[in-house]
Amino acid sequence: MPTNALMNTYGERALTLVRGEGAYVWDSEGKRYLDALAGIAVCGLGHAHPAVTEAVSGQASSLVHCSNLYNIPAQQQFADKLQSVSGMSKLFFGNSGAEANEAAIKLARLHGHSKGIEVPTIIVMDNAFHGRTLATLTATGNRKVHAGFEPLVRGFTRAPFNDIDAIKTIASNNSNIAAILVEPIQGEGGIQIPDADYLQNLRALCDEHDWLLMLDEIQTGNGRTGAFFNYQLHGVMPDVATLSKGLGNGFPIGACFVHGKATDLFQPGNHGSTFGGNPVACAAGLATVNTIVEQDLCSSAARLGKQLLQQFSDELGDCDHVVDIRGQGLMIGLELNTPCAELVAQAAEQGLLINVTAGNVVRLLPPLIFSDEQAQQLVAILSPLIRNFNP
Ligand SMILES: Cc1ncc(COP(=O)(O)O)c(C=O)c1O
Repeated sequence: MPTNALMNTYGERALTLVRGEGAYVWDSEGKRYLDALAGIAVCGLGHAHPAVTEAVSGQASSLVHCSNLYNIPAQQQFADKLQSVSGMSKLFFGNSGAEANEAAIKLARLHGHSKGIEVPTIIVMDNAFHGRTLATLTATGNRKVHAGFEPLVRGFTRAPFNDIDAIKTIASNNSNIAAILVEPIQGEGGIQIPDADYLQNLRALCDEHDWLLMLDEIQTGNGRTGAFFNYQLHGVMPDVATLSKGLGNGFPIGACFVHGKATDLFQPGNHGSTFGGNPVACAAGLATVNTIVEQDLCSSAARLGKQLLQQFSDELGDCDHVVDIRGQGLMIGLELNTPCAELVAQAAEQGLLINVTAGNVVRLLPPLIFSDEQAQQLVAILSPLIRNFNP
């Protein structure tokens, strides 16, 4: 079954998944797994959700693609929906998270140049993850992601995450700053949750210095942390926000939102994409977002997340090698005092899909439709594995 025709960018892959339904997937041998990763925060509605399947097949049977040279009704409807859900003024559709962030980076440069800054510079954070294109890997705060791809892109400077004083120091030493790009909660960086007033303080600094506040909500968005966007939990409006991952419940789509002084930065000819806003992707996205809103899955994520944190604390709170149990909504990290990548295979053996990020953080990103029983099943399988983990 494994082929040698694919570039080896993902290393060896242990499982072959062929089917999914709700919070479960099945491998090619017919074994069932409880999916507590949802394709890394993508399938928020679970697998093979009927609303998405119907929207995709309906659109695919009438028009798959026609180009952005023409009006696309599904794109316009989806944009209207996202405008109202986000409170943002406008948006641009791409196909992935990295593309949405590329659009944000271009907007920051336009904003900087509009103020006469020759080398507009974006503040990005240690341990951030923003994607794998050249500009977004430069924005990413991980040496392993940079290695071998130098020269990196100019126009970025780095600060520790959750450190407002560090940003103030940059503000007083660097007159080239045009924007801050930050994840409201760092996902790949190990489910790092900043202080409750972090986004508000960043907003205030951006207002003071006329910088754009650009929030990468690619992992935190689409209802995952208990509101459709994490910024909505903080009463903060960004100038730019990016979404992807769960936006099409598995159908590739991304979006870059603008508001306030960023609203009209892009003008005809500044940006574009052959596939961005494709009719099928937008039909999938509209069905996804309608379902999240109609079924109030943001509230489910908030409630289930609290429940899971409590249950894991009850089960593992006394474990010396578990140094922290944290999360917001269904974005949960269990931090061990030692690298623990082996737990992924141990969990799969027991019929559970999880992930380990930043070396020692078990990351859980279950679908928003997870039931209480499935949450209990997750705790029941994972807790003993972590308790008995002995590298
Ligand atoms: C916060 C964040 N930004 C950007 C990306 C990149 O998204 P994509 O892989 O769709 O390019 C990711 C992917 O993990 C992410 O978590």
